[in-house]
This record gives sequence, structure tokens and C-alpha cells, in this order.
Amino acid sequence: MNPLNVGLLGFGTVGSGVWKVLNRNQNEISRRAGREIRITHVAARAEDGSFARAQEQCRSAVIVDDAMKIVRDPQIRIVCELIGGTTIARTLVLEAIAQGKHVVTANKALLAIHGTEIFAAAHEKGVMVAFEAAVAGGIPIIKALREGLTANRIEWIAGIINGTSNFILSTMRETGASFADVLREAQARGYAEADPTFDIEGIDAAHKLTIMAAIAFGIPMQFDKAFAEGIAKLSSDDIRYAEELGYRIKLLGMTRHVAGKGIELRVHPTLIPAKSLMANVEGAMNAVLVKGDAVGPTLYYGAGAGSEPTASSVIADLVDVTRMHTTDPENRVPHLAFQADKLSDTPVVPMAEIQSGYYLRLRVLDRPGVLAEITHILADQKISIEAFLQKEAASGETEVNIIILTHRAIEKNIYQALAKIEALETVKGKVTLLRMEDLQ
Ligand code: HSE
Repeated sequence: MNPLNVGLLGFGTVGSGVWKVLNRNQNEISRRAGREIRITHVAARAEDGSFARAQEQCRSAVIVDDAMKIVRDPQIRIVCELIGGTTIARTLVLEAIAQGKHVVTANKALLAIHGTEIFAAAHEKGVMVAFEAAVAGGIPIIKALREGLTANRIEWIAGIINGTSNFILSTMRETGASFADVLREAQARGYAEADPTFDIEGIDAAHKLTIMAAIAFGIPMQFDKAFAEGIAKLSSDDIRYAEELGYRIKLLGMTRHVAGKGIELRVHPTLIPAKSLMANVEGAMNAVLVKGDAVGPTLYYGAGAGSEPTASSVIADLVDVTRMHTTDPENRVPHLAFQADKLSDTPVVPMAEIQSGYYLRLRVLDRPGVLAEITHILADQKISIEAFLQKEAASGETEVNIIILTHRAIEKNIYQALAKIEALETVKGKVTLLRMEDLQ
């Protein structure tokens, strides 16, 4: 059989990894795909040096600077979008679909924001859009959700899905270094996005969570309804106090189906039990814990970023699309798991209605009756206390830090309690609030 021609859009970290792995493992990949997958064209840019790099490395391919030429080239069957962003990438992907080409993309922001439109277009055209590399880099979590767990009603998914913030939190905890210093190191190591605010403000994780929730629960991609709170304001005191209480803080993406309410979709720093497997996912590694009603909890761990790990997922999609394109045109899954024609209208739960455990840190005057006032307010809002820690006042100081862990409560009840607690004359400043999950 003739090779299947692929056009690569973008020759950055991931694009060059795809070229390298595809060539290194060509025999195995061709055997598994049923025919050779050949990158015949690469679109790259002179401005960032990728054009020259592509010319040097991809001797057998045609290198162009106009990606649209590849998208419109009738000899190309699969367009592999590795440019990133939501503007040019969206135009190119929609045009590729309009031209009847299959698309493989690693672009999480594009799918989280425009996925519903893109999958509807692909469905109408009868082409595939595959996106394994968009979530958790090299971990085959999309395949697991789509295929391995397809018998299950998914109850919840909890993910450490941003390597940069996990690296920052792990290093801050291990070395006591400041947030700013560790962020600089993460950028130097190449984990961070071009705009690192996407990593540290939880936006990158919310993109990935939006995609997983859409597959797991059959809802549209609704990034605009996802809650994202990052790690920039986290203090090393909270990291330390959490440890003393037997917890570790991770930037967790949490999506949960709550019967009668809807789907929770939220990313925030979260206390999780220090002994759990998830708490021990350190450095830039990613992990996704999925709870299915039949299978129970399953855990997926691996590199969430990087050239060859991400290329591993991109090529897996190229193989899937090649196999379905060539061997089974009648029965292929036109949009690889995203049923754009049969979406569920289960709503996303507003943040005020979610349920979680809470970590509250308060600065209070060290005098009789203060605690009684605070616990009284919590009890009035039906918030039950799980643990309590009081730090001794430094010599000469009259204020102390107290930390309260609560059992699961409704978030709006916490907001109401905090407004009353912060109004007390004995409580100084704002209360620090973090969420807590037992992952059971
Ligand atoms: N910036 C991302 C991360 C890369 O830190 O996980 C992969 O999406």
C-alpha cells in the first residue's frame, strides 16, 4: 500500500519530536498502522528559527512557510497541527476539515475553547479529529477514557495535569525556595508554556480538564464554565501546615458528576492525603486518577510534556487515523470519541454549589472565647470540623495562626461563614481558603 501522506504544521519541540520518533521507529509504526506514515510537508517559520531547523532535519520533506498550502494540498491526507494557540490554528484546522482531511492536534486551548465547533464540522465532513497529545502529554488518557473505560459511568476524574506547577510545588516543598525562583527554573527547563501565566494560574490545566470532562460525561467543551485558581498566591506556610496535618498541596483538576446537580469542573490548589499515590507524583510528572462505577479507581502516570513523550501521543493518533482511514472506512469513529451529534445537556455546577473539604487559615488574637465564636459560626452554616491546629504565638506577639480542616461542605456556606468570621474583631485580615479532597 502507498504511504499515507501527513503534513506537519509547526516544527517546535513537539513537531521535531514527531519527526524523530516517526523516523526512528518507522518499521514498528508502519507494521502497526498497516502502511507507512510519511511526513511529506512541514510548515515552519523563519522568525523563530524553526524553518532552518526543519530544512536541516527533514531532508525528505518539503518545507514551506505558508501552512495553508499544506492544508489545501490534495496529496495530504492528515494534517497534524502543532502550532498552538486559538487563532491561526483554528482557521487551519477548520480549513483542513473543510478540505476533507483528518486532523491530529496537540492543541488543548483550541479544543477546550472551540472544540464543539471543530468536532461538529468534522462530524459533518466525516473526518476524524484526534487529540491524545492535548491532555497529559505522553499519558494515553484519552484512549483510556474513550476505549478502556467505555463500560463505566465515570464518577470523577482528578488530575495533576500541569507539569510546571507540579514542579514548582514539589520544589518549593522540598527546598523551601520561593515561588519566583522556582518558576524561573521551570522556564529554563522548558516545561512552561510560552505564557507561563497559563501554567501557574491553572488555565492550562483547565483546558485539559475541560477536554477530559467532555469525553467522560459527554458534555460540550465548556472552558468558559471551568473554574481556575492557580498557585501564585500559595504561601510556603500553607505548604508546611498542610504537611503537619498529613496532607500535600497539588494543583488538581477535579471534575465530578454530582447526581441531581451536574458536573463540577474546577482547577485549584488542593490538599490531598500525603500518603496517597497522587500526593507522590512529584516534579514535572503528570497523573490522572479516574473513578469508574464498575472498575473503581484507576491511575495513569507519566510525562505530561516534552518532545518525545508528546510525540508518542501524536503518533498514536496518526496510527489510529491511518488504520481507520485505510482498513475500515465504513465503521470508523468519525471524531474519535467526541459525539458532537449527541451531547448531554447536564449543566456545569456553579462554584458556589460545589462540595469539598476546606482548609482555613486564620490569624486571630490569642484570647479566651475566640475559638468558640469561630466554631459557632461554622456550626450555624452546617460546617463540621475535621481537624484543628494552633501555632504558638512568637514571643511578644498577641496573634496566632489557626488552621481548621472541615468535612465536606457546600462552598457557598463556607463563603457565608468566612464573611462573618472576617467581621469578628478578634480575627485579623482575610482568611486563607484552600480546598481538600480525600480522592476516595
Ligand atoms: N506547560 C504544560 C505543562 C506543557 O507544564 O504541563 C504540556 O501541556
